Amino acid sequence: MFAASAFLPARAKGARSAFSSYPFTLGVASGDPSSDGFVLWTRLAPRPVESGGGMTPAPVEVAWQVAEDEAMTRVVRRGKEIADHGWAHSVHVEVGGLKPDRWYWYRFTAGGEVSPAGRARTLPAAGTMPERLRFAVASCQKYEIGYYTAYEHMVREDIDLVVFLGDYIYEKADSSAAVRPHGLPLALTLDDYRRRYAAYKTDPALQAAHALAPWIATWDDHEVSNDYAGSVQENPEPGDPAAFLRRRAAAYRAYYEHMPLRRTAIPSGPDLRLFRRFDYGRLARFNVLDTRQYRTDQPAGPRLQPAGPKLADPAGTILGPEQLTWLFEGLDQSPALWNVLAQQVLMAPVDRMPGPAVVVDVDKWAGYEFERQRVLRHFLEGGTANPVVLTGDKHTNWANELLIDSNDPAGTPVAVEFLGTSITSGGDGEDQPDYAGTLLAENPFVKYHNNERGYIHCEVTPRGWRGDFRTVPHVSSRNAPLLTRASFVVEPGRARLNRV
Ligand SMILES: [Fe+2]
Repeated sequence: MFAASAFLPARAKGARSAFSSYPFTLGVASGDPSSDGFVLWTRLAPRPVESGGGMTPAPVEVAWQVAEDEAMTRVVRRGKEIADHGWAHSVHVEVGGLKPDRWYWYRFTAGGEVSPAGRARTLPAAGTMPERLRFAVASCQKYEIGYYTAYEHMVREDIDLVVFLGDYIYEKADSSAAVRPHGLPLALTLDDYRRRYAAYKTDPALQAAHALAPWIATWDDHEVSNDYAGSVQENPEPGDPAAFLRRRAAAYRAYYEHMPLRRTAIPSGPDLRLFRRFDYGRLARFNVLDTRQYRTDQPAGPRLQPAGPKLADPAGTILGPEQLTWLFEGLDQSPALWNVLAQQVLMAPVDRMPGPAVVVDVDKWAGYEFERQRVLRHFLEGGTANPVVLTGDKHTNWANELLIDSNDPAGTPVAVEFLGTSITSGGDGEDQPDYAGTLLAENPFVKYHNNERGYIHCEVTPRGWRGDFRTVPHVSSRNAPLLTRASFVVEPGRARLNRV
């Protein structure tokens, strides 16, 4: 158990602060682990939600330490980085040379101030078969709509990783349902996005979840703008796409500045390479996808459209050709027993219309049906071992079996999909067994649906993949208890969800 006291800031003995006030207001984070290291992150921001974070433009030297023990007495790596004004005084350290498959603790110091401590874990060595991996799947944490009670529960879990699947921030101004308004306007500029991340990151439960374990994160649409597709925003305006690409560049830069990402993710204008892979020994390979940056525009028309040839246009792509080739290579060369797609949007082509008509949401994989089938067919024909799709975005919990032709009642699923609900987005939810019953009757490949907030706890072993849907009954007030609403087990060699 990671002691809560480790999160408390402390001033180095006898030191006078060089800052107007405590600079580590946004906490610390680790991420993108390898078998010999991970990325450490922090950002200096004495007045976090102000423009400039309360910093002068001068660069600041930040020292870091990695230790083998929580008390930070056995320091095994240390170094210094420059926190630069041009990058919002953020710090990204790529630590290497560590031992595989073990916990480390870390902290930063700058100008006489000491950051909270965080905990990080290296991945198991390549070629080994770990006994077990435990991790949480989270997404969609609209700040103003609720409290991060789900994270307060998550930090009591014994997990090795957090996999975050997008909507870390929301770009719009406070909604009318805000229970804790941040007071910030629609995010359009770099300064707007920076202030939005800062407002979110002041939350103590979010900071604790980052300090608990490394995060593997990807984004969805709201890190930039609702439902955008590549260079096209939801409601194009005069001057698009050039104006939108400038906005995207600002949003992507702020994303990099606030997440524990490697140098490979340093943005170049409106481009940021976020798709990447992680091997948890031979137990699991995580292919982390970006279904926003390279997709073609959603099929013209309303969000819900009849399934059919228009949605299966071979010219439509949700991954883009480069990422698709990269994914297939990663599947074909995988040493792993479980092959994970950690990604954003619903892959099962769920029919939203009762009766014989099939109506699907074209912002999801169903709007890119040609590529959806191509990926599923590749699982089958390429012999991908045990594909598991992890999904965010929908603010509800789902467990789905994925078929190439979802209308074939005799079809055999080729993969399973665990879709995790939101941390807060959507506000208070409720378990809706009647609605879920209708949905499951319409879509036999959907095995579970629930409309509450929370996260998925996954336990992966050579013998099975277990997903527990953890929920909180409310987020508009504090202290919600944690429930485990449903649990499913997948056995190796059989893409079926078994409720336990
Ligand atoms: Fe969302």
